[in-house]
Amino acid sequence: MIDEMTTVLEPSPLPDFVETKYVKDITNRALSYIKAGFPVHLRGPSGTGKTTLAMHLASKIERPVVMIHGDEEFSTSDLVGGEHGYRIRKVVDRFISRVLKTEEDMVKRWVDNRLTVACKYGFTLIYDEFTRSRPEANNILLSILQEKMMDLPVGRGGEEPYLKVDPDFTAIFTSNPEEYAGVHRSQDALRDRMITMDLDHFDYDTELAITQAKAKLSKQDSRIIVNIVRGLRESGKCEFAPTVRGCIMIAKTLKVQKLTPSKSTSRFMQMCRDILASETSRVGSKTNQNRVKEIIRELVAKELGIGKTINVPREADEDSNVVDTVDNKTTENRKQEKESLIEI
Ligand SMILES: Nc1ncnc2c1ncn2[C@@H]1O[C@H](COP(=O)(O)OP(=O)(O)OP(=O)(O)O)[C@@H](O)[C@H]1O
Ligand SMILES: [Mg+2]
Repeated sequence: MIDEMTTVLEPSPLPDFVETKYVKDITNRALSYIKAGFPVHLRGPSGTGKTTLAMHLASKIERPVVMIHGDEEFSTSDLVGGEHGYRIRKVVDRFISRVLKTEEDMVKRWVDNRLTVACKYGFTLIYDEFTRSRPEANNILLSILQEKMMDLPVGRGGEEPYLKVDPDFTAIFTSNPEEYAGVHRSQDALRDRMITMDLDHFDYDTELAITQAKAKLSKQDSRIIVNIVRGLRESGKCEFAPTVRGCIMIAKTLKVQKLTPSKSTSRFMQMCRDILASETSRVGSKTNQNRVKEIIRELVAKELGIGKTINVPREADEDSNVVDTVDNKTTENRKQEKESLIEI
């Protein structure tokens, strides 16, 4: 008795997906390797768009998608399937209405898991963060990728001890080389069977387009945010480089608060520091965070063209009230004056 209880995703275009030249270029390269019959492995630091790109590639392949997230606790049976409980069949015989005859029979129930389902029906497999699983759990993939055969455990039943992988089966892997906790070095034999594409942080146009698309913010305001985040990233002073997620968080917060960086400088400054200083440090070390906050202050001031005049206390600023300084108001006034001059 073989059962399937796998959630299969429809391959559909992602909402707000941005396709810049940079994204198109990686997509086309990856699709050309997939077309040639090779699994693709997208490797890169956090926030470089690996998972999103994997899903985008899957939507281009136009086959149903099964997704697995690597997990330290995984065993091969989590990928392939196993005997999950029993199926009880009950036959109630009411041939003579006053005599009730029941028959029960228990059958071991094998449930195919996602990997088996994908191989059997030729679906697209996205194995996100595959290096988080133990190498022994992933060994099953070696023959799937090379010989296009899947060894089946004895308990599954069926005539053949292996399953022939459907020719439409495609595998897309992602991994983050920067992660240490709980990560096993991806087995060399497995990596040797895939084409690895190293991703880095997005180029300027893509980061800007993603920020704008995700928050529905104006290009002008998105540009200010992206410049600040990229400036901080390039400063090289962060424990972890800020990612496009930082841009999206700031942009979305501005949007829901109906604020703009130039009209609410202090709140914008506070927001940037809250979001970016925490995103870029692991344990919240005070000295490093203060250094990062100082860099953010300089970047925000530079972007808004207001000098270092925003009244955000240098230390322990989380609990303090933040007010626009006279200097800022003067800048704001000057701006308004300028605008009215232009109107004339
Ligand atoms: N082409 C794109 N269009 C729109 N949004 C995108 C695009 N690429 C990435 N994003 C957005 O950028 C953010 C980071 O992308 P993603 O989650 O794919 O990165 P990742 O490399 O998988 O990160 P992690 O290693 O942390 O899992 C997400 O919010 C995602 O929606
Ligand atoms: Mg991811």
